[in-house]
Amino acid sequence: MKKPENCIVTIFGASGDLTRRKLLPALFDLYRKNMLPQSFAILGVARSEFTDHSFRQKMADELSGSYPSGRAEREKFAQFLERVHYLRMDFADSGAYQILKARLISLDRETQARGNYIYYLATTPRLYETISIQLGRVALNRESPGWKRIVFEKPFGFDLQSAIELNRSVRQVFSEEQIYRIDHYLGKETVQNILAFRFANGIFEPLWNRNYIHHVEVTAAESIGIGDRGGYYDGAGALRDMVQNHLLQVVATIAMEPPVRFDAKSVRDEKVKILQSLCPIAPEEVPERVVRGQYVESTIGGEKIPGYRSEKRVAPNSRTETFVALKLFIDNWRWGGVPFFVRTGKRLPVRLSEVAIHFKKTPQRLFKENLETIEDNQLIIRIQPNEGILLRFGMKRPGAGFQIKSVDMDFHYRDLGEIDIPDAYARLLLDCIEGDPTLYARYDAVEASWRFVTPILQAWQDNPQIKLYGYPAGSWGPREASRLFEGTGEDWRYPKEPLVPATEPIEL
Ligand code: BG6
Repeated sequence: MKKPENCIVTIFGASGDLTRRKLLPALFDLYRKNMLPQSFAILGVARSEFTDHSFRQKMADELSGSYPSGRAEREKFAQFLERVHYLRMDFADSGAYQILKARLISLDRETQARGNYIYYLATTPRLYETISIQLGRVALNRESPGWKRIVFEKPFGFDLQSAIELNRSVRQVFSEEQIYRIDHYLGKETVQNILAFRFANGIFEPLWNRNYIHHVEVTAAESIGIGDRGGYYDGAGALRDMVQNHLLQVVATIAMEPPVRFDAKSVRDEKVKILQSLCPIAPEEVPERVVRGQYVESTIGGEKIPGYRSEKRVAPNSRTETFVALKLFIDNWRWGGVPFFVRTGKRLPVRLSEVAIHFKKTPQRLFKENLETIEDNQLIIRIQPNEGILLRFGMKRPGAGFQIKSVDMDFHYRDLGEIDIPDAYARLLLDCIEGDPTLYARYDAVEASWRFVTPILQAWQDNPQIKLYGYPAGSWGPREASRLFEGTGEDWRYPKEPLVPATEPIEL
């Protein structure tokens, strides 16, 4: 494989959680697979006081749990760390950017990066604008020699207005081609496979529309709570944290038209059309169409699980949702009238993300007396864990009579053998190094998804009467979420028994 061009990756916010948990492990993963450029440097910048040496030491300590085990791996890891550097800087101090520039020039000499720089913003989003503007002031946005790319972690904006403003200010400094808005769900192998599954096969695409599909379910369940992230999460909530970005991107991938070509522009053109076709949920429809919940204390296997309001850095009377379920429609010819049910939550029974396509029932119920389990045909795309695709259909039970039973054809990625599923961050970082933004969110997609979720956020803010249901940690969220299916005769899939049964409505 051709090696990418030499470059320097600068990580803003390098002493933070993301660098330790995701970015450095992903870069090391690429390094050990020989996928990084021949020569490169990683420059961590943050406010904390470190030298190159002490920063490397910190990274070595923190990553030692995951890497490395054997001697060869250990040596590789040590070689990798030699390419990691550190610069202390205060992001608000404009003088500091001259020092950053000087450091980049000196690293450039060592690595022969020839002006190819990536700036990865893993800081609080409040600094995105400042950092971009300051980089521009010292001409670190200027291409030739080399290229300059800037990566923004989510959340990109806080609502529609702030996303538009942020886009506007960043685009005054960097062109859209230089901007990479990361949505790590798009880097997940199984999310990418939705495109391959849909457009590399002839069997399903003819059925992929309102004539054959009854409804679509998109679930991203997490068993963990919010851990140490209360400071961020309490101001965000599940709708901003998961739906605005990850889940609407999944909906767009499921629903988009085939692109003209498989390139960044064509793929992103089709996705944005879906996001722009989402039927708005008017504020007065919010109580009917959106259900929000917050986990409350419960006991799982004898262990007491604290409620959300007792988590660190969460307001004791917080009304932030840790669960949200909604019903949305796409206003176009392919999908008109097909409901998409989307839900996500923390402290649900399992960690599981999947898309379930439910096909319409047969027009004639020939075997209706004999159905053991009345299930529709389903195609289930398991994003994680246990990545794979399952097709469920009815089959005659062998023997006398005509008993119909639902059976599964089930493909598991693990059946592919030793192939490991690359981490989403590794995939996306490599794409950025190679200059391929296909799996990054474009400005118009970000704005379109904020346009959809902002009225919901606004309705919750303006009308505190809209219910926030408590659900016991370990249950599948508030029972009221089933109300979204009213009139369809359907309900959510509950792929696993809840650890804790749902309770009667609890209002918070
Ligand atoms: C992040 C959210 O973007 O995605 C987290 O901020 C969430 O709250 C995480 O836990 C889920 O990602 P994954 O890859 O673990 O499904």
